[in-house]
Amino acid sequence: MGASFKELYRKYDIPAPRYTSYPTVPFWSETPSHDDWIKHLSLALGKDQSSWALYVHLPYCETLCTFCGCNTSITKDHSKEKPYVDLIIKELDLYLQRVPELKIKPLKQIHFGGGSPTFFSADALGCLVDEIDKRVVREKDHFEGAIEVDPRRTKIEQLQELRKRGFNRISLGVQDFDPEVQRLVNRIQPFELTKQVTDWARSMGYDSVNFDLIYGLAKQTPESIKKSAELTVALKPDRIALYSLAIVPWIKPAQKLFKDEDLPKGEDKRKLYEIARSILTQNGYVEIGMDHFALGTDALYEKTKAKTLHRNFMGYTDQKTDVLLGLGVSSISETPDSFHQNEKVLNIYEQKIIKGELPTLRGHVLTDEDKIQRKKILKFMTQFEIELSPAEKTDAEVFLKEMISDQLVEFDGSWLRLTERGKPFLRNAALFFDSRLQRSQPQTRIFSSSI
Ligand SMILES: C[S@@+](CC[C@H](N)C(=O)[O-])C[C@H]1O[C@@H](n2cnc3c(N)ncnc32)[C@H](O)[C@@H]1O
Ligand code: SF4
Repeated sequence: MGASFKELYRKYDIPAPRYTSYPTVPFWSETPSHDDWIKHLSLALGKDQSSWALYVHLPYCETLCTFCGCNTSITKDHSKEKPYVDLIIKELDLYLQRVPELKIKPLKQIHFGGGSPTFFSADALGCLVDEIDKRVVREKDHFEGAIEVDPRRTKIEQLQELRKRGFNRISLGVQDFDPEVQRLVNRIQPFELTKQVTDWARSMGYDSVNFDLIYGLAKQTPESIKKSAELTVALKPDRIALYSLAIVPWIKPAQKLFKDEDLPKGEDKRKLYEIARSILTQNGYVEIGMDHFALGTDALYEKTKAKTLHRNFMGYTDQKTDVLLGLGVSSISETPDSFHQNEKVLNIYEQKIIKGELPTLRGHVLTDEDKIQRKKILKFMTQFEIELSPAEKTDAEVFLKEMISDQLVEFDGSWLRLTERGKPFLRNAALFFDSRLQRSQPQTRIFSSSI
Protein backbone atom coordinates (compact mmCIF):
# COMPACT_ATOMS: atom_id res chain seq x y z
CA MET A 1 0.00 0.00 0.00
CA GLY A 2 1.53 3.35 -1.06
CA ALA A 3 1.50 6.61 0.90
CA SER A 4 -1.90 8.26 1.44
CA PHE A 5 -2.66 11.49 -0.42
CA LYS A 6 -2.48 13.32 2.89
CA GLU A 7 1.12 12.16 3.30
CA LEU A 8 1.91 12.91 -0.34
CA TYR A 9 0.60 16.46 -0.12
CA ARG A 10 2.66 17.06 2.98
CA LYS A 11 5.75 15.60 1.35
CA TYR A 12 5.52 17.31 -2.03
CA ASP A 13 4.04 20.70 -1.14
CA ILE A 14 7.25 22.61 -1.88
CA PRO A 15 8.03 25.77 -3.85
CA ALA A 16 8.09 24.89 -7.55
CA PRO A 17 7.77 26.94 -10.75
CA ARG A 18 4.72 26.74 -13.02
CA TYR A 19 7.07 26.59 -16.01
CA THR A 20 5.36 29.08 -18.28
CA SER A 21 8.95 29.61 -19.43
CA TYR A 22 12.26 27.83 -19.19
CA PRO A 23 14.52 29.11 -17.77
CA THR A 24 12.05 30.53 -15.24
CA VAL A 25 12.25 34.30 -14.79
CA PRO A 26 14.31 34.26 -11.54
CA PHE A 27 16.99 32.32 -13.42
CA TRP A 28 17.28 34.68 -16.36
CA SER A 29 20.92 35.66 -16.34
CA GLU A 30 21.94 37.29 -19.59
CA THR A 31 19.73 40.13 -20.81
CA PRO A 32 20.09 40.50 -24.59
CA SER A 33 21.51 43.82 -25.77
CA HIS A 34 18.97 45.80 -27.81
CA ASP A 35 20.86 44.83 -30.97
CA ASP A 36 20.74 41.15 -30.06
CA TRP A 37 17.08 41.30 -29.10
CA ILE A 38 16.21 42.87 -32.46
CA LYS A 39 18.42 40.34 -34.24
CA HIS A 40 16.62 37.45 -32.54
CA LEU A 41 13.23 38.80 -33.59
CA SER A 42 14.41 39.24 -37.20
CA LEU A 43 16.01 35.80 -37.29
CA ALA A 44 12.87 34.08 -36.04
CA LEU A 45 10.63 35.96 -38.47
CA GLY A 46 13.10 35.60 -41.36
CA LYS A 47 12.29 31.90 -41.64
CA ASP A 48 9.85 30.65 -44.29
CA GLN A 49 6.26 30.31 -43.08
CA SER A 50 7.03 32.17 -39.87
CA SER A 51 4.28 33.96 -37.96
CA TRP A 52 3.87 35.92 -34.76
CA ALA A 53 1.50 36.70 -31.90
CA LEU A 54 1.00 39.98 -30.07
CA TYR A 55 0.27 40.31 -26.35
CA VAL A 56 -0.77 43.74 -25.08
CA HIS A 57 -0.75 44.37 -21.34
CA LEU A 58 -3.48 46.79 -20.20
CA PRO A 59 -2.65 47.26 -16.53
CA TYR A 60 -5.45 49.28 -14.95
CA CYS A 61 -8.13 48.02 -12.54
CA GLU A 62 -10.62 50.17 -10.61
CA THR A 63 -10.30 48.12 -7.42
CA LEU A 64 -7.84 45.54 -6.11
CA CYS A 65 -8.84 41.91 -5.60
CA THR A 66 -6.75 40.99 -2.59
CA PHE A 67 -5.59 37.63 -4.02
CA CYS A 68 -4.29 39.24 -7.21
CA GLY A 69 -0.83 38.25 -8.45
CA CYS A 70 -1.00 40.21 -11.75
CA ASN A 71 0.80 43.42 -12.67
CA THR A 72 -1.93 45.99 -12.00
CA SER A 73 -2.28 49.67 -11.37
CA ILE A 74 -5.35 50.59 -9.32
CA THR A 75 -7.12 53.79 -10.37
CA LYS A 76 -10.53 55.20 -11.18
CA ASP A 77 -9.05 57.84 -13.44
CA HIS A 78 -10.13 56.97 -16.97
CA SER A 79 -8.25 59.90 -18.50
CA LYS A 80 -5.27 57.50 -18.41
CA GLU A 81 -6.72 55.37 -21.21
CA LYS A 82 -5.76 57.39 -24.28
CA PRO A 83 -2.19 58.22 -23.26
CA TYR A 84 -1.61 54.53 -22.52
CA VAL A 85 -2.99 53.45 -25.92
CA ASP A 86 -0.65 56.02 -27.51
CA LEU A 87 2.31 54.47 -25.64
CA ILE A 88 1.44 51.01 -26.93
CA ILE A 89 1.30 52.23 -30.51
CA LYS A 90 4.53 54.13 -30.06
CA GLU A 91 6.17 50.96 -28.72
CA LEU A 92 4.84 48.96 -31.67
CA ASP A 93 6.31 51.58 -34.02
CA LEU A 94 9.70 51.30 -32.30
CA TYR A 95 9.68 47.61 -33.19
CA LEU A 96 8.36 48.09 -36.73
CA GLN A 97 11.19 50.53 -37.53
CA ARG A 98 13.76 48.00 -36.35
CA VAL A 99 12.16 44.69 -37.41
CA PRO A 100 10.54 45.21 -40.84
CA GLU A 101 9.55 41.51 -40.95
CA LEU A 102 6.82 42.36 -38.41
CA LYS A 103 5.08 44.37 -41.14
CA ILE A 104 4.82 41.49 -43.59
CA LYS A 105 4.71 38.28 -41.60
CA PRO A 106 1.23 37.09 -40.59
CA LEU A 107 0.00 38.07 -37.16
CA LYS A 108 -1.88 35.01 -35.91
CA GLN A 109 -3.06 36.26 -32.56
CA ILE A 110 -3.75 39.43 -30.61
CA HIS A 111 -4.28 38.95 -26.90
CA PHE A 112 -5.36 41.78 -24.61
CA GLY A 113 -4.46 40.89 -21.02
CA GLY A 114 -4.12 42.72 -17.78
CA GLY A 115 -4.91 44.19 -15.33
CA SER A 116 -8.35 44.64 -16.76
CA PRO A 117 -8.50 45.36 -20.49
CA THR A 118 -12.18 46.27 -20.00
CA PHE A 119 -11.08 49.23 -17.87
CA PHE A 120 -10.63 50.79 -21.34
CA SER A 121 -13.69 52.17 -23.15
CA ALA A 122 -15.12 50.61 -26.29
CA ASP A 123 -13.65 53.52 -28.27
CA ALA A 124 -10.17 53.12 -26.79
CA LEU A 125 -10.15 49.35 -27.44
CA GLY A 126 -11.46 49.79 -30.98
CA CYS A 127 -8.89 52.49 -31.68
CA LEU A 128 -6.08 50.28 -30.36
CA VAL A 129 -7.05 47.43 -32.70
CA ASP A 130 -7.42 49.80 -35.65
CA GLU A 131 -3.98 51.30 -35.08
CA ILE A 132 -2.44 47.82 -34.89
CA ASP A 133 -4.27 46.78 -38.07
CA LYS A 134 -3.01 49.83 -39.97
CA ARG A 135 0.54 48.66 -39.36
CA VAL A 136 0.62 44.86 -39.66
CA VAL A 137 -1.07 42.03 -41.59
CA ARG A 138 -3.27 39.50 -39.92
CA GLU A 139 -3.23 35.81 -40.76
CA LYS A 140 -6.27 35.31 -43.01
CA ASP A 141 -7.81 32.01 -42.06
CA HIS A 142 -7.11 31.27 -38.43
CA PHE A 143 -6.73 34.64 -36.74
CA GLU A 144 -7.48 34.72 -33.04
CA GLY A 145 -8.38 37.91 -31.19
CA ALA A 146 -8.69 37.34 -27.45
CA ILE A 147 -9.52 39.57 -24.51
CA GLU A 148 -9.54 39.02 -20.75
CA VAL A 149 -12.61 40.67 -19.27
CA ASP A 150 -13.67 41.53 -15.77
CA PRO A 151 -17.47 41.02 -15.91
CA ARG A 152 -17.95 43.72 -13.25
CA ARG A 153 -16.49 46.30 -15.62
CA THR A 154 -17.64 45.06 -19.02
CA LYS A 155 -20.06 46.91 -21.27
CA ILE A 156 -21.78 45.37 -24.26
CA GLU A 157 -20.25 48.04 -26.54
CA GLN A 158 -16.71 46.90 -25.71
CA LEU A 159 -17.47 43.36 -26.84
CA GLN A 160 -19.29 44.66 -29.93
CA GLU A 161 -16.41 46.88 -31.06
CA LEU A 162 -13.93 44.02 -30.71
CA ARG A 163 -16.20 41.48 -32.37
CA LYS A 164 -16.59 43.86 -35.35
CA ARG A 165 -12.82 43.77 -35.61
CA GLY A 166 -12.60 39.99 -35.70
CA PHE A 167 -12.02 39.22 -32.02
CA ASN A 168 -13.38 35.73 -31.37
CA ARG A 169 -12.21 34.64 -27.91
CA ILE A 170 -13.08 35.98 -24.51
CA SER A 171 -11.89 35.01 -21.07
CA LEU A 172 -13.96 36.00 -18.04
CA GLY A 173 -12.40 36.45 -14.61
CA VAL A 174 -14.84 34.60 -12.34
CA GLN A 175 -12.63 33.17 -9.55
CA ASP A 176 -15.47 31.93 -7.31
CA PHE A 177 -19.25 32.38 -7.17
CA ASP A 178 -19.57 32.19 -3.38
CA PRO A 179 -20.66 35.57 -1.90
CA GLU A 180 -18.62 35.16 1.30
CA VAL A 181 -15.44 34.24 -0.60
CA GLN A 182 -16.07 37.16 -2.96
CA ARG A 183 -16.47 39.53 -0.02
CA LEU A 184 -13.21 38.35 1.53
CA VAL A 185 -11.24 38.90 -1.69
CA ASN A 186 -12.88 42.28 -2.34
CA ARG A 187 -14.59 41.17 -5.50
CA ILE A 188 -18.37 41.18 -5.43
CA GLN A 189 -19.54 39.63 -8.69
CA PRO A 190 -23.08 38.20 -8.75
CA PHE A 191 -23.75 35.13 -10.90
CA GLU A 192 -26.17 37.17 -13.08
CA LEU A 193 -23.35 39.49 -14.12
CA THR A 194 -21.14 36.63 -15.26
CA LYS A 195 -24.11 35.08 -17.04
CA GLN A 196 -24.96 38.33 -18.77
CA VAL A 197 -21.44 38.83 -20.18
CA THR A 198 -21.33 35.16 -21.25
CA ASP A 199 -24.69 35.55 -23.01
CA TRP A 200 -23.56 38.74 -24.77
CA ALA A 201 -20.41 37.04 -26.03
CA ARG A 202 -22.34 34.03 -27.29
CA SER A 203 -25.02 36.10 -29.01
CA MET A 204 -22.35 38.14 -30.80
CA GLY A 205 -20.63 35.00 -32.08
CA TYR A 206 -17.49 34.85 -29.96
CA ASP A 207 -16.61 31.22 -30.58
CA SER A 208 -14.65 30.49 -27.43
CA VAL A 209 -15.56 31.55 -23.92
CA ASN A 210 -13.16 30.81 -21.07
CA PHE A 211 -13.74 31.17 -17.32
CA ASP A 212 -10.89 31.67 -14.85
CA LEU A 213 -11.56 30.06 -11.47
CA ILE A 214 -9.23 29.82 -8.49
CA TYR A 215 -9.02 27.15 -5.79
CA GLY A 216 -7.38 27.79 -2.44
CA LEU A 217 -9.05 31.18 -1.79
CA ALA A 218 -9.81 32.25 1.77
CA LYS A 219 -12.85 30.48 3.26
CA GLN A 220 -13.44 28.29 0.23
CA THR A 221 -14.95 25.00 1.41
CA PRO A 222 -15.74 21.69 -0.31
CA GLU A 223 -19.41 22.76 -0.40
CA SER A 224 -18.73 26.24 -1.76
CA ILE A 225 -16.42 25.06 -4.54
CA LYS A 226 -18.90 22.35 -5.50
CA LYS A 227 -21.56 25.03 -5.90
CA SER A 228 -19.17 27.27 -7.87
CA ALA A 229 -18.30 24.41 -10.21
CA GLU A 230 -22.01 23.61 -10.70
CA LEU A 231 -22.79 27.24 -11.51
CA THR A 232 -19.85 27.25 -13.92
CA VAL A 233 -21.02 24.24 -15.89
CA ALA A 234 -24.53 25.72 -16.03
CA LEU A 235 -23.06 28.50 -18.21
CA LYS A 236 -21.08 26.04 -20.37
CA PRO A 237 -17.85 27.95 -21.06
CA ASP A 238 -15.75 26.20 -23.73
CA ARG A 239 -12.65 26.33 -21.55
CA ILE A 240 -12.00 26.61 -17.84
CA ALA A 241 -8.76 27.51 -16.10
CA LEU A 242 -8.85 26.29 -12.52
CA TYR A 243 -5.80 27.97 -11.03
CA SER A 244 -4.15 27.09 -7.79
CA LEU A 245 -4.05 30.29 -5.70
CA ALA A 246 -0.44 31.43 -5.93
CA ILE A 247 0.53 32.95 -2.61
CA VAL A 248 3.43 35.32 -3.04
CA PRO A 249 3.04 37.93 -0.24
CA TRP A 250 6.68 38.98 -0.64
CA ILE A 251 5.64 40.37 -4.05
CA LYS A 252 1.95 41.11 -3.42
CA PRO A 253 1.49 42.61 0.08
CA ALA A 254 -2.34 42.65 -0.20
CA GLN A 255 -2.20 38.86 0.17
CA LYS A 256 -1.01 39.45 3.76
CA LEU A 257 -4.56 40.58 4.53
CA PHE A 258 -5.75 36.96 4.52
CA LYS A 259 -5.81 35.21 7.86
CA ASP A 260 -3.56 32.19 7.60
CA GLU A 261 -6.22 29.97 9.18
CA ASP A 262 -8.73 30.98 6.47
CA LEU A 263 -6.51 29.68 3.64
CA PRO A 264 -6.97 26.02 2.69
CA LYS A 265 -3.60 24.27 2.42
CA GLY A 266 -2.00 21.00 1.38
CA GLU A 267 -4.50 18.16 1.23
CA ASP A 268 -7.47 20.45 2.03
CA LYS A 269 -6.54 22.75 -0.82
CA ARG A 270 -6.07 19.94 -3.31
CA LYS A 271 -9.41 18.45 -2.28
CA LEU A 272 -11.06 21.65 -3.55
CA TYR A 273 -9.46 21.04 -6.95
CA GLU A 274 -10.58 17.40 -6.99
CA ILE A 275 -14.17 18.34 -6.12
CA ALA A 276 -14.31 20.93 -8.89
CA ARG A 277 -12.56 18.56 -11.29
CA SER A 278 -15.08 15.81 -10.68
CA ILE A 279 -18.03 18.15 -11.41
CA LEU A 280 -16.34 19.46 -14.56
CA THR A 281 -15.45 16.04 -15.92
CA GLN A 282 -18.96 14.71 -15.18
CA ASN A 283 -20.24 17.55 -17.34
CA GLY A 284 -18.23 16.91 -20.49
CA TYR A 285 -14.97 18.72 -19.69
CA VAL A 286 -11.62 17.10 -20.30
CA GLU A 287 -8.59 17.92 -18.15
CA ILE A 288 -5.90 19.43 -20.35
CA GLY A 289 -2.36 20.09 -19.21
CA MET A 290 -2.14 21.55 -15.71
CA ASP A 291 -5.21 23.27 -14.19
CA HIS A 292 -7.05 23.56 -17.53
CA PHE A 293 -10.23 22.00 -18.86
CA ALA A 294 -11.96 22.14 -22.24
CA LEU A 295 -15.12 20.79 -23.80
CA GLY A 296 -14.57 17.98 -26.30
CA THR A 297 -15.58 20.42 -29.06
CA ASP A 298 -12.81 22.93 -28.26
CA ALA A 299 -9.57 23.33 -30.25
CA LEU A 300 -7.46 22.84 -27.10
CA TYR A 301 -8.88 19.35 -26.74
CA GLU A 302 -8.19 18.55 -30.41
CA LYS A 303 -4.58 19.69 -29.98
CA THR A 304 -4.19 17.65 -26.81
CA LYS A 305 -5.37 14.52 -28.60
CA ALA A 306 -3.01 15.24 -31.49
CA LYS A 307 -0.15 15.91 -28.99
CA THR A 308 0.43 19.34 -30.49
CA LEU A 309 -0.73 21.44 -27.54
CA HIS A 310 1.56 24.42 -26.92
CA ARG A 311 2.29 26.49 -23.83
CA ASN A 312 3.72 29.98 -23.51
CA PHE A 313 3.52 32.92 -21.11
CA MET A 314 -0.20 33.22 -21.77
CA GLY A 315 -0.77 29.57 -20.77
CA TYR A 316 -1.88 26.60 -22.85
CA THR A 317 -2.67 27.49 -26.45
CA ASP A 318 -3.57 25.78 -29.71
CA GLN A 319 -1.61 28.40 -31.69
CA LYS A 320 2.15 28.13 -31.99
CA THR A 321 4.05 31.06 -33.47
CA ASP A 322 7.74 31.79 -33.94
CA VAL A 323 7.56 35.05 -32.00
CA LEU A 324 5.42 36.28 -29.15
CA LEU A 325 5.83 40.05 -28.93
CA GLY A 326 4.63 41.64 -25.70
CA LEU A 327 3.79 45.33 -25.59
CA GLY A 328 2.95 47.43 -22.55
CA VAL A 329 4.23 47.63 -19.02
CA SER A 330 5.72 44.34 -17.68
CA SER A 331 4.96 42.37 -20.89
CA ILE A 332 7.10 39.39 -21.74
CA SER A 333 8.21 38.47 -25.27
CA GLU A 334 9.60 35.22 -26.54
CA THR A 335 11.67 34.03 -29.53
CA PRO A 336 13.49 30.70 -30.02
CA ASP A 337 16.72 32.38 -28.84
CA SER A 338 15.65 34.71 -26.06
CA PHE A 339 13.14 36.15 -23.62
CA HIS A 340 12.57 39.84 -23.04
CA GLN A 341 10.53 41.64 -20.37
CA ASN A 342 9.41 45.26 -20.35
CA GLU A 343 9.80 47.62 -17.40
CA LYS A 344 7.34 46.69 -14.63
CA VAL A 345 7.00 50.20 -13.20
CA LEU A 346 4.52 52.22 -15.21
CA ASN A 347 6.26 55.59 -15.19
CA ILE A 348 9.67 54.10 -16.06
CA TYR A 349 8.06 52.21 -18.95
CA GLU A 350 6.39 55.46 -20.03
CA GLN A 351 9.60 57.54 -19.86
CA LYS A 352 11.52 55.03 -21.96
CA ILE A 353 8.86 54.88 -24.66
CA ILE A 354 8.61 58.67 -24.78
CA LYS A 355 12.39 58.83 -25.25
CA GLY A 356 12.11 56.34 -28.13
CA GLU A 357 13.92 53.57 -26.24
CA LEU A 358 12.92 49.91 -26.06
CA PRO A 359 11.62 49.56 -22.47
CA THR A 360 13.78 46.60 -21.48
CA LEU A 361 13.75 45.57 -17.83
CA ARG A 362 15.47 42.21 -18.23
CA GLY A 363 15.66 39.17 -20.46
CA HIS A 364 17.60 36.08 -21.18
CA VAL A 365 19.58 34.70 -24.09
CA LEU A 366 19.09 30.96 -24.10
CA THR A 367 22.15 28.74 -24.02
CA ASP A 368 22.18 25.49 -26.02
CA GLU A 369 21.42 23.61 -22.83
CA ASP A 370 18.49 25.95 -22.05
CA LYS A 371 17.00 25.27 -25.49
CA ILE A 372 17.15 21.52 -24.99
CA GLN A 373 15.67 21.65 -21.48
CA ARG A 374 13.00 24.14 -22.56
CA LYS A 375 11.74 21.69 -25.19
CA LYS A 376 11.66 18.86 -22.70
CA ILE A 377 9.79 20.83 -20.04
CA LEU A 378 7.30 22.04 -22.63
CA LYS A 379 6.70 18.50 -23.80
CA PHE A 380 6.32 17.13 -20.28
CA MET A 381 3.98 19.97 -19.20
CA THR A 382 1.71 19.45 -22.25
CA GLN A 383 1.85 15.67 -22.76
CA PHE A 384 2.71 14.32 -19.29
CA GLU A 385 5.24 11.92 -20.84
CA ILE A 386 8.59 12.07 -22.56
CA GLU A 387 11.13 9.66 -24.00
CA LEU A 388 14.50 9.78 -22.24
CA SER A 389 17.97 8.76 -23.37
CA PRO A 390 19.61 5.91 -21.41
CA ALA A 391 21.79 8.39 -19.49
CA GLU A 392 18.81 10.60 -18.65
CA LYS A 393 16.83 7.59 -17.55
CA THR A 394 19.57 6.68 -15.09
CA ASP A 395 19.58 10.25 -13.74
CA ALA A 396 15.79 10.33 -13.54
CA GLU A 397 15.74 7.09 -11.58
CA VAL A 398 17.88 8.78 -8.96
CA PHE A 399 16.27 12.26 -9.00
CA LEU A 400 12.70 10.96 -9.05
CA LYS A 401 13.32 7.96 -6.78
CA GLU A 402 10.73 9.04 -4.21
CA MET A 403 8.15 9.93 -6.85
CA ILE A 404 8.67 6.56 -8.52
CA SER A 405 8.24 4.67 -5.27
CA ASP A 406 5.13 6.76 -4.47
CA GLN A 407 3.77 5.76 -7.94
CA LEU A 408 3.50 9.36 -9.11
CA VAL A 409 5.74 8.79 -12.14
CA GLU A 410 6.65 5.55 -13.87
CA PHE A 411 8.88 4.23 -16.61
CA ASP A 412 7.57 2.36 -19.62
CA GLY A 413 10.78 1.32 -21.37
CA SER A 414 12.53 4.60 -22.04
CA TRP A 415 9.36 6.70 -21.52
CA LEU A 416 8.91 8.69 -18.33
CA ARG A 417 5.22 9.10 -17.60
CA LEU A 418 3.20 10.96 -14.98
CA THR A 419 0.63 8.56 -13.54
CA GLU A 420 -3.01 9.53 -12.98
CA ARG A 421 -2.21 9.59 -9.23
CA GLY A 422 0.77 11.82 -10.01
CA LYS A 423 -1.22 14.57 -11.76
CA PRO A 424 -1.31 16.94 -8.76
CA PHE A 425 2.48 16.68 -8.65
CA LEU A 426 3.33 17.62 -12.25
CA ARG A 427 5.37 20.65 -11.16
CA ASN A 428 7.41 18.47 -8.79
CA ALA A 429 8.23 15.97 -11.54
CA ALA A 430 9.14 18.75 -13.99
CA LEU A 431 11.87 19.85 -11.57
CA PHE A 432 13.92 16.97 -12.97
CA PHE A 433 14.39 18.90 -16.22
CA ASP A 434 15.24 22.19 -14.50
CA SER A 435 19.02 22.06 -14.71
CA ARG A 436 19.39 25.64 -13.55
CA LEU A 437 17.38 25.17 -10.36
CA GLN A 438 19.27 21.95 -9.63
CA ARG A 439 22.60 23.75 -9.93
CA SER A 440 21.62 26.62 -7.68
CA GLN A 441 18.85 26.36 -5.12
CA PRO A 442 17.71 29.87 -4.15
CA GLN A 443 18.27 30.96 -0.55
CA THR A 444 15.01 32.89 -0.36
CA ARG A 445 11.52 31.96 -1.45
CA ILE A 446 10.88 32.77 -5.13
CA PHE A 447 8.19 30.32 -6.25
CA SER A 448 4.69 29.62 -4.97
CA SER A 449 3.88 26.15 -3.57
CA SER A 450 3.45 23.28 -5.97
CA ILE A 451 0.05 22.25 -4.53
C1 LIG B 1 -5.66 39.58 -15.58
S1 LIG B 1 -6.71 38.62 -14.66
C2 LIG B 1 -8.20 38.43 -15.64
C3 LIG B 1 -8.97 39.65 -16.08
C4 LIG B 1 -9.52 40.57 -15.03
N1 LIG B 1 -8.50 41.34 -14.44
C5 LIG B 1 -10.30 39.84 -13.98
O1 LIG B 1 -9.77 39.59 -12.92
O2 LIG B 1 -11.46 39.55 -14.26
C6 LIG B 1 -5.97 37.05 -14.92
C7 LIG B 1 -6.34 35.89 -14.03
O3 LIG B 1 -5.24 35.55 -13.21
C8 LIG B 1 -5.73 34.76 -12.13
N2 LIG B 1 -5.00 35.15 -10.92
C9 LIG B 1 -4.76 36.38 -10.47
N3 LIG B 1 -4.05 36.33 -9.33
C10 LIG B 1 -3.85 35.02 -9.05
C11 LIG B 1 -3.18 34.31 -8.00
N4 LIG B 1 -2.60 34.94 -6.99
N5 LIG B 1 -3.17 32.95 -8.05
C12 LIG B 1 -3.75 32.29 -9.07
N6 LIG B 1 -4.39 32.91 -10.09
C13 LIG B 1 -4.45 34.25 -10.07
C14 LIG B 1 -7.21 35.05 -11.99
O4 LIG B 1 -7.93 33.86 -12.21
C15 LIG B 1 -7.46 36.08 -13.07
O5 LIG B 1 -8.71 35.89 -13.69
S1 SF4 C 1 -7.79 39.81 -10.45
FE1 SF4 C 1 -8.13 41.02 -12.28
S2 SF4 C 1 -9.57 42.67 -11.61
FE2 SF4 C 1 -8.72 41.79 -9.78
S3 SF4 C 1 -6.99 43.14 -9.31
FE3 SF4 C 1 -6.20 41.37 -10.46
S4 SF4 C 1 -6.15 42.02 -12.54
FE4 SF4 C 1 -7.47 43.46 -11.44
